[in-house]
Amino acid sequence: MTKRVFSGIQPSGTLTIGNYLGAMKNFVKLQGEADCLFCVVDLHAITVPQDPAALRENTINLAALYLAAGINPQQATLFVQSHVPAHAELGWILQCVVHYGELGRMTQFKDKSAQRDVVTAGLFTYPALMAADILLYQTDLVPVGEDQKQHLELTRDLAERFNQRYGETFVIPDVYIPKIGGRIMSLEDPTKKMSKSDASAGAYISMLDTPDVIRKKISRAVTDSGREVRFDKENKAAVSNLLTIYSLCANVSIAELEARYEGKGYGQFKKDLAEVVVSELEPIQARYRELLATGEILDVLRDGAERAAARAEATLKTVKERLGFVL
Ligand code: AQP
Repeated sequence: MTKRVFSGIQPSGTLTIGNYLGAMKNFVKLQGEADCLFCVVDLHAITVPQDPAALRENTINLAALYLAAGINPQQATLFVQSHVPAHAELGWILQCVVHYGELGRMTQFKDKSAQRDVVTAGLFTYPALMAADILLYQTDLVPVGEDQKQHLELTRDLAERFNQRYGETFVIPDVYIPKIGGRIMSLEDPTKKMSKSDASAGAYISMLDTPDVIRKKISRAVTDSGREVRFDKENKAAVSNLLTIYSLCANVSIAELEARYEGKGYGQFKKDLAEVVVSELEPIQARYRELLATGEILDVLRDGAERAAARAEATLKTVKERLGFVL
């Protein structure tokens, strides 16, 4: 049977190559072999303050990036989370299933809340909404980066708890994390994940960075002591990260790259890496600009929301019946 796939990305800034290599590039691969739903998760983005004009723009731009990267709206369903009210409704219901202690153990909450003076209740309950996103579509497989693994485990726990308490309702989803590229690290600090909301733009390569900016950022990326281009996450975290990016963008194995750069030092390696990243992103950027110029994005999103809502409503109706709501 065809597997059902769901994943989402927050419109909280321009995507980095971390989001691209860890998530979006795999979405494109999966759409040919599974029944895929991909979402712009704006309800998640507002768990931290967002400027309304920027949020609106980021939402459209993210949808355009999905399409530019290769998501085909005839094949996959692409939509905006807030266009399908069932997400917020099931999100609330699952807040009443998840335990306070479970939410408090989420490392993403601990990291994100530690960086802010004011922490919203939404940031705390975020994993319940994420579980709703996934469970509404009876999802089999969720392609995400490594940072989402713990949220996926909680999603499975909540689905099992609900099924046990109220009868079989949800499919228990599996996580799909790429073997390489599941955690692309910051170019300035290879112990930190690359993040689109990093305060320092030198820490990430944005999918829309110009070739010159990409070259500059890669030439300034930190490297490790020594000069061999070798994959060794423990002792050579920075170079291992750059090798991972190279391997995924050029579609060449890490072992082959190590052999290619033996005795050549970091300089040539970084120069070539910059060109490989530029060639991966340039065609996406060109398609992205074309798509924004045509103005067809809103039609794609409207159609996607209709298709998604029909499926989501069916699950939500069963959930409400099981809970004892009067329909
Ligand atoms: N550094 C990364 N390496 C691999 N995958 C990554 N992902 C994020 N960062 C990396 C994956 O990208 C998808 C979308 O992420 P998101 O936008 O929903 O939120 P996030 O995980 O919080 O990503 P960011 O870039 O760090 O966003 P901000 O800064 O807004 O919080 C997910 O599948 C994620 O795993």
